[in-house]
Amino acid sequence: MTRARITGVGAYAPKRILTNADLEKMIETSDAWIVKRSGIRERHIADENEATSDLALRAAQQALERANLVPEDIDFIAVGTTTPDMFFPSVGNIVQHRLGCRRAGSVDMLAACAGSIYSLSIGSQFIQTGKYRRVLCIGAETLSKITDFTDRGTCVLLADAAGAAVLEPSNDDRGVIDFDLSSDGQYWNLLYMPAGGSRHPASHETVDARMHYAKMKGNEVFKVAVRMFVDSTVRVLERNGLTAADVDLFIPHQANLRIIEAAAKRVALPMERVFVNVDRYGNTGAASVYVALEEAVSAGRLAPGSLVLLAAFGGGFAWGSLLMRW
Ligand code: UT7
Repeated sequence: MTRARITGVGAYAPKRILTNADLEKMIETSDAWIVKRSGIRERHIADENEATSDLALRAAQQALERANLVPEDIDFIAVGTTTPDMFFPSVGNIVQHRLGCRRAGSVDMLAACAGSIYSLSIGSQFIQTGKYRRVLCIGAETLSKITDFTDRGTCVLLADAAGAAVLEPSNDDRGVIDFDLSSDGQYWNLLYMPAGGSRHPASHETVDARMHYAKMKGNEVFKVAVRMFVDSTVRVLERNGLTAADVDLFIPHQANLRIIEAAAKRVALPMERVFVNVDRYGNTGAASVYVALEEAVSAGRLAPGSLVLLAAFGGGFAWGSLLMRW
């Protein structure tokens, strides 16, 4: 079967930077605590008038240019996001129109921080089956818009960014080899946003009760997250007769440096072969793996033929991993 290969990547983060020193002035925290517990030093935060599609559009434009394509070439747009501009239409629809992808269908996928792996995996299937030839995959978030800046357990972590990748058919063994998509809804209340949906539609009461913000039991998320990273990455490697020793670069969801280090240790991957940029971006949800991939490519960390392992986990819980030959 034809593999789907990434032919262009793009990334964008809002100009405004919020440092740990800035947070020290807003809540009871310290730079030392944040760095020690999460590895985060600064993050990008969207302006009041910047929405998720604004970031997605810029990342998508860069990915298209690098793939040497024009918007009319795109057959389909798959977006991973937890923070769309509005309930509907989708970010995919907005990007389709603003970019001018006149022939493209589009859809958003909600798999929280695993939206990167879900959108890339599902996008790659359209190429593999031969249905489409050019798929634009995007991960974009403005998590700051659902962040309670009085809750120190979440506001030091969550942030905003977008990343994109263009997928096209490969004519050799480069491209997506396999992926694993998993979910387990029993953990839903470890990380969720209570109101704004059909369970608790927006009302004065839900606003007063601060129910339109992400709620997280960080410590419990931490433990499950490490296990999920390990389960999923080992499964996808084993299924393809590979081990961690074969992986040239592991690009995990950038949620917390300690989670990344714990997972890398358990799968026996030395940190030299793990890409980390959580220090400069914080947790950007469905965007994080795309942004990290773009930085890894720009930094020359990937050569043709490199074996790349991507993995992410997030609210739901939803998690997964994707293996590709660069
Ligand atoms: O994409 C998936 C999204 N989520 C995640 O990946 C999050 C996973 N979890 C984490 O990253 C970590 O659990 C956190 C960074 C959120 C917290 O680190 P922790 O080592 O699990 O700390 P903790 O929640 O056990 O809290 C330890 C202490 C508590 O004080 P007491 O009860 O021991 O007195 C907290 O109140 O640290 C306190 N604390 C803080 N102190 C300073 C919590 N947040 C802060 C803060 N600054 N920002």
